Amino acid sequence: MERFQKKMGDCTYDFINDSVEERLSNPSTLESNDFVGLFLKEIKTTKDPSSCFYGDIGKQNLVGTLVDIFVASTETCSTTLSWMFLYLALNSEKQEELIKEIDRVLGRDTPKLEDASRMPYAEAVIMETMRLASVVPMNLFHCALQDTKLDDSQGNLNVS
Ligand code: HEM
Repeated sequence: MERFQKKMGDCTYDFINDSVEERLSNPSTLESNDFVGLFLKEIKTTKDPSSCFYGDIGKQNLVGTLVDIFVASTETCSTTLSWMFLYLALNSEKQEELIKEIDRVLGRDTPKLEDASRMPYAEAVIMETMRLASVVPMNLFHCALQDTKLDDSQGNLNVS
């Protein structure tokens, strides 16, 4: 299982790394305003070696961010949306409320992060979906790297 996971991880990393290299070798990349294009533009223009956009560190940062988006968010976001559409299909009056808020706040504009604070109903719908559904039934596994003593000699719990 561990070997399979490593192989999957390496495949994903290589696939994304190759795509970034391909974009880098294409001069039209710098004209593109998508996420990767803008990130690469920042890497090309950053001169400050302490910046997370600088040189090879910048490239590693881009590949790491894309792996996060690809691995951590594809399944989680699509599962959340699938449950949300199911609940909205079963609750048409809530669906109407949500559509009203979207029409009022966004109209036909593309949503921006700043719009989120003006959409409490949409936020409530997402939260309620996560409360009702098993969006992530099995969490990430965690383990301590070394033995840790949590209580001091008086039996107080010390967690830092
Ligand atoms: C509805 C969408 C999402 C759900 C339900 C979700 C759920 C989770 C859960 C349950 C964890 C484990 C937390 C723990 O350590 O116990 C987690 C971790 C993580 N998620 Fe998400 N996630 C979502 C979207 C995203 C997106 C969009 C990204 C990145 C673009 C992302 C990146 C990550 C990363 C990097 C971690 C590991 C954090 C760490 O422990 O270092 N997630 N997520």
